[in-house]
Amino acid sequence: MRTLALLTLLTASSAFAAVDHEKAFKADIAPILEKSCIGCHGKDKTKKPKGGFDATSLEAIVKGGKEAGAGITWGDISKSSLYKSCELGISNPDDDAAMPPKKKKDRVALTKEQLAKLKSFIEAK
Ligand code: HEC
Repeated sequence: MRTLALLTLLTASSAFAAVDHEKAFKADIAPILEKSCIGCHGKDKTKKPKGGFDATSLEAIVKGGKEAGAGITWGDISKSSLYKSCELGISNPDDDAAMPPKKKKDRVALTKEQLAKLKSFIEAK
């Protein structure tokens, strides 16, 4: 009986531990995008976000822009344009898909730590 009680307890607590994407987004990800991205991707509501990619809400980010596919595919950074564009922004700024674009002189590329945060955010279960 004790084992059963313990199992019940474990199941209940793991349900509580399930990731709250929205909460994690607000706490860890939105501040990064605020600095590096939303100036061109949705901050000014009177203008269309570049590439159709609105980075101001998690819902819009998941959906993605016009050409690069889903912004976030949960669990798969290789199918997440949000991640891929930032990764290129660090590893290969000359690439057309690198974000923020290289031609923008005051661009604030992500740091490796921020990129790692983005990765764990997308991969968290
Ligand atoms: C200086 C303006 C500017 C900034 C800052 C910027 N972008 Fe972009 N972004 C663009 C433009 C312009 C396009 C569309 C044309 C292109 O692909 O070059 C684009 C396209 C994209 C796309 C592809 C959308 C699609 O599906 O077609 C993604 C994803 C993206 N940006 C993510 C980001 C992220 C993440 C950041 C912050 C790290 C960022 N961008 C910062 C200008 C910007």
